Amino acid sequence: MTILNILKEPHPILRKKSQLVHEVDNNLRKLMDNMLQTMYNAPGIGLAAPQVGILQRVVVIDISKDNEFKKPLFFVNPEITWRSEEVETREEGCLSIPGYYAEVTRSIRCKVNYTDYNGSPQELNANGLLATCIQHEVDHCNGVLFIDYLSKLKKDMIIKKLLKTKKEKKIL
Ligand code: NI
Repeated sequence: MTILNILKEPHPILRKKSQLVHEVDNNLRKLMDNMLQTMYNAPGIGLAAPQVGILQRVVVIDISKDNEFKKPLFFVNPEITWRSEEVETREEGCLSIPGYYAEVTRSIRCKVNYTDYNGSPQELNANGLLATCIQHEVDHCNGVLFIDYLSKLKKDMIIKKLLKTKKEKKIL
């Protein structure tokens, strides 16, 4: 298993739309395994392939608590087919936006169609934290980050600070 490099905002790849995956093969499973390891290592509860520089619609999520058994979920070509009108506001963070958290309002429930680790089609009804996480990660596949939901002033301020950190650390 390999720990992959997580791209940080601002990075052009994070703003690109990811491509549909045509086949779940061993290469893709290897990518998903590495993404999961990278996410656990960070640590985080969700990671999308564009965050590791791969523009494919692949997402890994695990919202289990530290003291519970791990419950990894693998989503290939996740498509949100329904979002509840009822919304909730949660504090979100992102492995590509380290150190920043902000409240984002999203649907409290959603329905997602996807292909699983074994290549089988699945449908999942999600709510609460999992629903938030799925919407956040599917956004990544469309080049959208949670800071896009903030005011322009707040978003620009965060990007400016991230850019400064990058320059200091020379991680551009
Ligand atoms: Ni994220």
